[in-house]
Amino acid sequence: MNGMAEPSTQSMQRIMVRDLAKSYTVGGRRVDALRGVDLTIEESGFYGVMGASGSGKSTLLHLLSGLDKADRGTITVGETAVDDLDEQALTMYRRRSVGVIFQKFNLLPTLTALENVVLPGVLEKLPPAELDARGRSLLEDMGLSDRVDHRPDALSGGEQQRVAIARALFFSPGILFADEPTGNLDMVSSDRLWSVLERLAGERNMIVLMVTHEAEAAARCRQVFVLRDGRNAGVIDAEELDPSELAARAASVAGPV
Ligand SMILES: Nc1ncnc2c1ncn2[C@@H]1O[C@H](COP(=O)(O)OP(=O)(O)OP(=O)(O)O)[C@@H](O)[C@H]1O
Ligand SMILES: [Mg+2]
Repeated sequence: MNGMAEPSTQSMQRIMVRDLAKSYTVGGRRVDALRGVDLTIEESGFYGVMGASGSGKSTLLHLLSGLDKADRGTITVGETAVDDLDEQALTMYRRRSVGVIFQKFNLLPTLTALENVVLPGVLEKLPPAELDARGRSLLEDMGLSDRVDHRPDALSGGEQQRVAIARALFFSPGILFADEPTGNLDMVSSDRLWSVLERLAGERNMIVLMVTHEAEAAARCRQVFVLRDGRNAGVIDAEELDPSELAARAASVAGPV
């Protein structure tokens, strides 16, 4: 804990999803990305989402993080009914209550690491001294004290993703969503990143929910939610499983992942 957690964090350790459905229509053709998904997380910790390509994993994370609206169903995060929020409340939810990281790190290329990290605070017009202090402290926590002035193209992939994590943590959210965060990283950087996510879940008492195709990552999770064709295929208690056991279990419920 670095002392920056805010009171809101304490009531956030719950995600409840009921009958969540989402379809897309492109060129007159309808795709049912989610067909009624349920998911319950009631404690902080590191959790995974697996499933074959196209099974709806990214769609689920988009809806949970308030980047898109469901067609049907409910999402409750902490005490908040996310599906009921108006545009303004949803903006605040996205900015303060949850953090999101993606396979592509989505850093702004013209800004330094520090400037990228403090962007959420700039949008809320926090005083410069506070921006600077929080930004540096987060980068230090990510092991990047000596990279604060580097622009993204002067950082390795693993470093860029850790900058993205620092930015996602700016307002000390209770939840971090990660969509294939190591999809562009080599094995060594991936392993380091999973350790960071696992540590955050423990130290900051967060729910970290990560989409992954990697059994090595999923085996570090408490539970892994498996999707198949937009539906729940099963929940795997992953704590006691090694990666090969986890992969076998996931494949048996989801088909090859
Ligand atoms: N914006 C969109 N417009 C149209 N169709 C979409 C859109 N986003 C997703 N889909 C479709 O919805 C289905 C689920 O997509 P989603 O991205 O959630 O899958 P995924 O499980 O994340 O797959 P992957 O492992 O390849 O990332 C797919 O068939 C996809 O083509
Ligand atoms: Mg995806």
